[in-house]
This record gives sequence, C-alpha cells and structure tokens, in this order.
Amino acid sequence: MSERIRAAITAVGHYVPEKILSNKELEKMVDTTDEWIVTRTGIRERRILEQGGTSELAAPAALACLKNRGIEAGEIDVIIVATISPDMFFPSTACLVQEKIGAKNAWCFDVSAACSGFVFALVTGCQFIEAGTYKKVLVIGSDKMSAITDYTDRNTCVLFGDAGAAVLLEPSDDPNLGVMDHRLYSDGAGKNALYQKGGGSLNPPTYQTIDNKMHYIYQDGKSVFKVAVIGMADVSAEIMKRNNLTGADVDWLVPHQANLRIIDACRERMNLDPSKVMINIDKYGNTTAATIPLCLSEWWHAGKLKRGQKVVLSSFGAGYTWGAVLVNWSIDPKS
Ligand code: ACO
Repeated sequence: MSERIRAAITAVGHYVPEKILSNKELEKMVDTTDEWIVTRTGIRERRILEQGGTSELAAPAALACLKNRGIEAGEIDVIIVATISPDMFFPSTACLVQEKIGAKNAWCFDVSAACSGFVFALVTGCQFIEAGTYKKVLVIGSDKMSAITDYTDRNTCVLFGDAGAAVLLEPSDDPNLGVMDHRLYSDGAGKNALYQKGGGSLNPPTYQTIDNKMHYIYQDGKSVFKVAVIGMADVSAEIMKRNNLTGADVDWLVPHQANLRIIDACRERMNLDPSKVMINIDKYGNTTAATIPLCLSEWWHAGKLKRGQKVVLSSFGAGYTWGAVLVNWSIDPKS
C-alpha cells in the first residue's frame, strides 16, 4: 500500500501597499476617535491600494512566495485565490494572477468564504496534493477591502484594509510535518448580518442600488461579534481536543484579525500564553482573506516561525463561515 501524501506549506510571501490610512486621518473623515477604534478593535492604521484591483495585491505576494521557494512561476500546477473583492466577477482573480506572474501551466479558480477564505482555500489546495494529482499549489488570500468600504460609515470604515499574502503547498518531506488536521463550518443563517447587498444577480447595479449604497460592506457588528467569539473559540478548542493538544503544546495561534477582543477570547479558551498569538491587526486592520497568510509570512520573515512548531490557524467570517487548521510548520526559519 502506498504511503499517505501529506501537504505542507513550503514557502510564504506577502504584499502590502505603501499608503497608510491612520486612525487620526479617519477622525477627519467620520465621527470617530483613535481612542474608540483602538479600544474597541485594536486597529491603529491600515493600508490602502490606490491603483488597480485585488490582483495587484495578490500577484506581488505570489511572486514573493515563489522567490522565497526559489522556483519559477511555470512550475505551479494550480492557483487558488481567496477573495471577496475580486477585480471583477469573471474571469477569476486567480486567472488574472496567473497572467500577471506568468504561471502558464497552472489552472486557476477563486474561493469565496470572506474572512475564512484563506483557510477554506488552504484546505481545498491540500486535497489536490494529498490525492497525488498535483505537486505545487499556490494558495493566495487577497482583498482590496477599500473598494467596497463606505468611508462615510463609521461602523465599517475603521475596520478594513488592503493586503495580499500567499503560501505554496507541496508534498511534505516528513510525514510528521505539514497540514495535519482541519475543521471547517458554514451557516447560511448569517447571510443578513454581514454582506454586500448589491452588485450580484439578486440586486444588479442600478442608479437606485448605488444611491442606496448597496455596493458597500454591510455589517451588524454586534450580532457578528457574538457569534464570532463563540465560533472561533469553539473550533480552535475542537481542533486541539481532536489532536490531544493542550495550550502548552501549541506554539502559535494565527487568528483572523477582525477584532483584538475576539482574538483574546479565542486565546483564553485555548489556554495559551499571550506571547504565542500572532497579532498585526494594529498595523493592517481586517484584510479579510489576507490576514492569516500575512501573519505567517511576517512571522517567518522575522525568523520567529520554526520547523516543527505547532501552529493553529483560526477564522470566522461572513456566511457565516469558520474553521481551524492545525499545521506542523515545515519551513526552516528565515536566517
Ligand atoms: N467610532 C465611534 N463610535 C462608533 C464607531 C466608530 N468608528 N463605530 C460604532 N460606534 C458607536 C456605535 O454607533 C454605537 O453607538 P450607540 O451605542 O450610540 O448606538 C457604539 O459605538 C457601540 O457600537 P457597537 O457596534 O456595539 O460596538 P462594538 O463594541 O460591538 O464594536 C465592532 C463594533 C468593532 C464592529 C465589533 O462589533 C466587531 O468586531 N464585530 C465583529 C467583526 C467581525 O468579526 N466580522 C467578521 C469578519 S469580517 C468579514 O467576514 C468580511
């Protein structure tokens, strides 16, 4: 009997645009304060892509990832882009990235699972590796949230930012390292708490949908907060229990960066020391599908992610969608 193939993350890369939108600048745009934003969310600033669509964030992240692995774009078999702010409904942003980076041998598609997009895409990518069908799958989380943010709505405009980040999946060189387990969930009952009302086939663009601001993010923050706290903590505890892990066994929690208070509740439930949580929400805000791979890439570049470490990725987003992935990290720290 042939041995099971395990998928491993073998490279990471990210891209954030240069333009910074600080809380102080937002104070001039809407009725808010730096103090409110920091205490309620943990966000101090976010990045804004001034020119181009989400593929302009995804493509440089992909190229950085390939550079870190030392391979050419033509070697990629599959490109999956997780996004809810695609350049356009079709073709997929993954196809646009393929063309931009010259990955001419890859087939490409997008995954839509909002803030859980990256973990859903990662697990999807793993299936191709584990089945033995493909050897190099590029998984990208990328969102230009500024394109669907209403900068006159203080409830949402303080929360979101733009970024792209990528990981490469390949067959693991060690059966004890790689993507070990996952739990993913959806509940469509969340459809009216967090969504973009207009632009799709239900409410195609008209003067009226634009006047009614239906092309921007709508969020009932309080309702989402309540379910996000429970969902992210529950699924993180579940993945630990399934793998007989205590807080002492886990080296890193990589949470979706929507709100520092949600992250903290999740950490407490996992019984983790605060020093084991990757947090960069203060610098970037909620970049939706990019938050988790952006953390992985930043921590690896800083030399803090080490081969053999146990890493729990955890997310909650629109849909509702939520999930956790256990990764035994397989890349040597960046020297
Ligand atoms: N500045 C000042 N006051 C504000 C602001 C602001 N930017 N935004 C809201 N307020 C006010 C509200 O109007 C409200 O005032 P009121 O009491 O007079 O009505 C008050 O502050 C409290 O508002 P809440 O919504 O109750 O504030 P809360 O503490 O819940 O924080 C937040 C809001 C940050 C949005 C929080 O609810 C949250 O993080 N929700 C979950 C977000 C999330 O996880 N989303 C999922 C991922 S996103 C995705 O999938 C695309």
